[in-house]
Amino acid sequence: MEKEEVILIGETGLQRKSDVIVIGAGAAGMMAAIRAGKRGRSVVILDHARAPGEKIRISGGGRCNFTNIHAGPKNFLSANPHFCKSALARFTPADFIAMVDGHGIAWHEKTLGQLFCDDSAKDIIRMLLAEMRMAGAVLHLGTEVSGVEKTEAGFRVSTSEGHCEASSLIVATGGKSIPKMGATGFAYRLAEQFGLAVLETRPGLVPLTLDPGLLESIAPLAGIAAPAEIRHGRTAFREALLFTHRGLSGPAILQISSYWREGDEVVVSIEPDIDIAAHLKTAKQINGRQSPQTALGDILPKRLAQFLVEREKKISGNMADLPDKALLRLAAGVQNWVVKPSGSEGYRTAEVTLGGIDTSALDSRSMEAKAVPGLYFIGECVDVTGWLGGYNFQWAWASGFAAGECV
Ligand code: FDA
Repeated sequence: MEKEEVILIGETGLQRKSDVIVIGAGAAGMMAAIRAGKRGRSVVILDHARAPGEKIRISGGGRCNFTNIHAGPKNFLSANPHFCKSALARFTPADFIAMVDGHGIAWHEKTLGQLFCDDSAKDIIRMLLAEMRMAGAVLHLGTEVSGVEKTEAGFRVSTSEGHCEASSLIVATGGKSIPKMGATGFAYRLAEQFGLAVLETRPGLVPLTLDPGLLESIAPLAGIAAPAEIRHGRTAFREALLFTHRGLSGPAILQISSYWREGDEVVVSIEPDIDIAAHLKTAKQINGRQSPQTALGDILPKRLAQFLVEREKKISGNMADLPDKALLRLAAGVQNWVVKPSGSEGYRTAEVTLGGIDTSALDSRSMEAKAVPGLYFIGECVDVTGWLGGYNFQWAWASGFAAGECV
């Protein structure tokens, strides 16, 4: 954001005492500050970054996929799949849409219930800043938090700008994804300092990489996208698959990556809505002089069709030369392709962090630590991770609202 758009609400020096301190001015932290402020609580919100909501700004290709109208507990991964229910029910996509509409921000549904700004993700940041201003929340940017102590009256937070105190502390510092953007893992360390369990974290919504042999063979496919279904065990997603020069990406791969574990296989079905075997048999009957590459190229990108045929060692000649068994094998290679990724691109490009603060340590209504009254954890740092498609922001808004409602 340009400097004048940032609006340093707390420009005049760190406010020493407040009812609530929020650490992290991302999606969850800003929503918590708004809700707490509107309830008459004095709120200070701290962030080490130079601008608030940096992940909002870059999200959804710059248009922010700010919610999903179908968001429900089934769209989230967590060791306790019931934990997210209460917060999601009390702040719904319709509630966020009402806020967006109230600020006159134009939006559209792109696909699968995913809502995007018509113009820019910055509209969402401006909206949250305006709401924070109306709620009287004081924002301090460029403020490094060096430590947190429990006091008799609440919490004392030491920062690069001095210390501040509050009876409630909300931690909204996100996960480990995209360290280049300031992700620190701070929330996990703080949770451990206060004795809360933290589940193993791993990158989610991330491209998968391939071993050098397979990567070399698919190198000519880099840049090609196709509709696909990607399966891992009983979980399957139907969205686009993208071949890249590092491996596999596209929404279908990002979705399955959150379920995939090191060493697992995934099953790729390209053009899952088309019966490829039937198509090949028909092609053989009506145009036996066609090559299999051409027959497959009628429904798949040409380079992909060529790759899929050439890797079937025993397939050569025209369609008329191929027994039905060979056609079935070729079709299985297109729609039942078992791939063993060698890894993922990691936190460098992951959109989210799976795992994190164990939900059994938190109250699902308020996000308050059961063992540490007054301490709250919200957003991505908690072990609740959404699918691709606006679900993660919906969790950030809902968990932020839940804490803001209870501090
Ligand atoms: P978030 O990471 O947003 O905010 C944490 C804040 O804490 C940051 O401002 C950070 O600077 C601050 N902070 C961290 N450590 C600190 C410390 N030690 N001291 C002070 N401040 C500290 N989701 C979705 O629903 N729709 C989408 O379109 C996208 N698109 C998307 C694109 C890309 C490229 C990424 C990386 C991610 C997405 N996401 C998404 C995911 C979404 O961005 C993510 O789930 C939310 O931003 C999480 O919100 P939080 O507020 O929890 O953390």
